[in-house]
Amino acid sequence: MKLVSPPARGRFVLLCIGALLPWSVRAADPHDRGQALFQQHCLLCHQAGGQGAPGVFPPLAKSDFLMVDKKRSIRVLCEGLNGKITVNGREYNGQMPPSTLNDAEAADVLTYIRNAWGNSGEPVTADEVREERRKTRFKTYEELVRASAFAPLPIAPAGFTLRDVAHLPENPTRLAGDGKSDVLYVLAVNGNVWRVDTKAGSFRLLLRGERYIDPSLGRPTCTGMMLDGQNRLYIVVNQRNEKAAPVTDEVTIFRTTDVSDGDPFDPQPWLRASYPWGIGPFNHCVNHLALGPDGFIYVNSGSRTDGGEPGKDPKYSPEGETPLTACLWRLDPKAAKPEIKVIARGLRNAFGFCWDNEGRLLATENGPDADMPEELNVLEKAATTASRSSSPTRMRSRIRTRLTRRRGNGSPGPWRTSARTAVSTASRFTRFIRTHRRRASCFSVMIFPTAGAGRFSSRALATC
Ligand code: HEC
Repeated sequence: MKLVSPPARGRFVLLCIGALLPWSVRAADPHDRGQALFQQHCLLCHQAGGQGAPGVFPPLAKSDFLMVDKKRSIRVLCEGLNGKITVNGREYNGQMPPSTLNDAEAADVLTYIRNAWGNSGEPVTADEVREERRKTRFKTYEELVRASAFAPLPIAPAGFTLRDVAHLPENPTRLAGDGKSDVLYVLAVNGNVWRVDTKAGSFRLLLRGERYIDPSLGRPTCTGMMLDGQNRLYIVVNQRNEKAAPVTDEVTIFRTTDVSDGDPFDPQPWLRASYPWGIGPFNHCVNHLALGPDGFIYVNSGSRTDGGEPGKDPKYSPEGETPLTACLWRLDPKAAKPEIKVIARGLRNAFGFCWDNEGRLLATENGPDADMPEELNVLEKAATTASRSSSPTRMRSRIRTRLTRRRGNGSPGPWRTSARTAVSTASRFTRFIRTHRRRASCFSVMIFPTAGAGRFSSRALATC
């Protein structure tokens, strides 16, 4: 786990949140194995149909670069790739990390991508991978695992210092702390919560996911956690219920009790909701939650589609977004059984949101898609014509500010506005809104009913 600390203020910020969905699959059929590995290790960047994202992630579907040289494609997986390449006549200059797959897994996934989406090529064997791997930076799979366990720290942005605080044995997704003590709580994707002493660098397992999450509802993906003023932890758990038809996302927000020694424990379900799982294997799920300056809890529910489109897979619901997805929820922490109040619609996936010093709600748009790089949005109350109607369908959508972080060499650069992205994103949202208007569920973008601007207090930017 790496923490950045601006020395002047001594606040901690989690640098980056890794890929989700680390479940292992060993299906009997090599095609199924390759497909499952693709979904787990590659889909996030190269996309479900292998189409990539223009200018950022090259396509694998009908990729000349992939198909022309089998040995090179093995090396790409074994040691990663960076520098200029041309795929189907288009230039890319990005970075792909090595895939931590053993020889057999690398062979399965390569065989799969070489024969999916219109590609057709001979299979790749584990022996071929082993042999080719010897020519790369990491001569064996074991060497790669060792090297990628804790990569060297990146260069800190100006004004920040970086240090390792603790090396946790699993993939963390969220941090929570009260901002005063040296204690941080760290959530892992499986629901485990670690208590880290940031001064001593020590840690211990505080909550075990398997002890409080009901396994009969499906494999858990836990991506949201916060601490409230009473030292209670809230943990967001999504479970993909394959037994339901259509497949559903079973969402539970657990809340712990607070105890005097400062360690929350005994998570109990506080809110349960469920909606049809995304149209493909991917779903943004319900993830970040945070305490607003008005004392309410805000929760992001990411989209289940790319642009409101219906699905075709008979296992998945053929609708676009649902009333509970692609939106922000507000919950009352005082309620024993909170009701979901949707306060902003049309967000793709505000995986990180927070309030700035002026009380403006800022939300990221996470998830690779056609309009990379993604923007940071300001959510504000729509300029409603209140006299016309208080019905949300009459609210006018408005996107006021759009800040874009340039990608490029991967180092955190300054925030800049980008006219090009603004235009392409605006057109994406226009499409998005149009689709949802037709479906009469999601229709407007960036609506945030403030509780009166004066009531917002100052907050630090703390999540990314
Ligand atoms: C974090 C994002 C990311 C992940 C995950 C990822 N790739 Fe890549 N991949 C890239 C980028 C970026 C490039 C282009 C690198 C460059 O421009 O030098 C690339 C290039 C490639 C290429 C060569 C170019 C092409 O389109 O044919 C292949 C093949 C490839 N990736 C396969 C895979 C496979 C298989 C996986 C999963 C095991 C995977 N990648 C996972 C980002 C990713």
